[in-house]
Amino acid sequence: MPVPTAFARDQWYVAAYGSEVGGEEVLARTVCGEPLALYRTPDGQAVALADRCVHRRYPLSEGTLEDGRLVCGYHGFTYDRAGTCVSVPGQTRVPRTARVASYPLAELDGFVWVWIGDPARADASAVPRAPWLADPGWTVVRGMEPLAARYGLLVDNLLDLSHETFLHAGYIGTPEVAATPITTEADEERGIVRVSRHMDDAECPPFYADSTGLKGRVSRWQDIEYHAPCLYLLHSRIAPVGSVPGADGSDPDGFHTEIAYAITPSTETTTYDFWLVARDFAREDEGVSSFLHEFNRTVVLQDVTALDILERVTAEEEDRQVQELSVGIDAGGLAARRILERMIARSAEPAPEPAAVPTPGTPGTPGTPGTPEAVAAR
Ligand code: FES
Ligand SMILES: [Fe+2]
Repeated sequence: MPVPTAFARDQWYVAAYGSEVGGEEVLARTVCGEPLALYRTPDGQAVALADRCVHRRYPLSEGTLEDGRLVCGYHGFTYDRAGTCVSVPGQTRVPRTARVASYPLAELDGFVWVWIGDPARADASAVPRAPWLADPGWTVVRGMEPLAARYGLLVDNLLDLSHETFLHAGYIGTPEVAATPITTEADEERGIVRVSRHMDDAECPPFYADSTGLKGRVSRWQDIEYHAPCLYLLHSRIAPVGSVPGADGSDPDGFHTEIAYAITPSTETTTYDFWLVARDFAREDEGVSSFLHEFNRTVVLQDVTALDILERVTAEEEDRQVQELSVGIDAGGLAARRILERMIARSAEPAPEPAAVPTPGTPGTPGTPGTPEAVAAR
């Protein structure tokens, strides 16, 4: 089963950090091949419109905002938050078909999630959560690196952390990571893969030694939770050797880091790699924050370099019947590929027949542009 390139539709994807959307600027992002123009209205609501003007397809992200309306930068067609054109130059009548799609959004945990697919199926309660990313009890550093590689390669990479030992040696990799067997569980129904690796007596890599102050040998746990297709969570625990959490869940000796990635396909061969590191220790320490930011960014860029290389190789070999050889460490990645393939196949199925003939612009009508711009989820 090859790394997927097709997109699973009818899914939520992270389009941006909430802090990237707002002010005078309109943010351009392409998610699952769909160009989006993201902005915020004066009442604080994030909006994502299709980034192509109906007039001559100029990107709306090149336009300007006026009282929460988006004015095309080419000839001034003006759109409201539902994507309806409310003004065209030189005439009072606005053609009835002058509208662009407005995408359902859900703003949660610091992310702006966009629904790619049939707007009638968007359900914000299905967005996977990472509550510590917006919790004042945690300190978060984060970034986003664009990848010139298909998203499936990043899924593979993150579900098999044995690569830390080799690709990230001297940063987060130590010999024990690759040497310690994993346990894998797949919840195919809910689209979740869990991979755990508990190292009870391991070298402490600089990433954790310099941020926690623990030196020498440590107990290091990695518990991955991948919510296909987009959200990857790594619950990381570092503690002195022999220390385990109490039966009541208390863990005073443990240093906890919640590492998250949002894996957002942009085109078939490019990906947004959103990364975040949240910690419950040294929370006020700016030095630790800047260290973790720089260090993690370096680690992410090591992956970016490797995956960009792998994309070139994969693309060159696309027409040939090349085989991979999978072993035990790949159990999580293979489970993720299976789940993604099923999601992709399901999203290719035709939508159920609508009960009534849609009226243009009816909120939530399948395939009708101008659907409601936000699924309330604040
Ligand atoms: S292309 Fe947008 S107004 Fe002409
Ligand atoms: Fe990596």
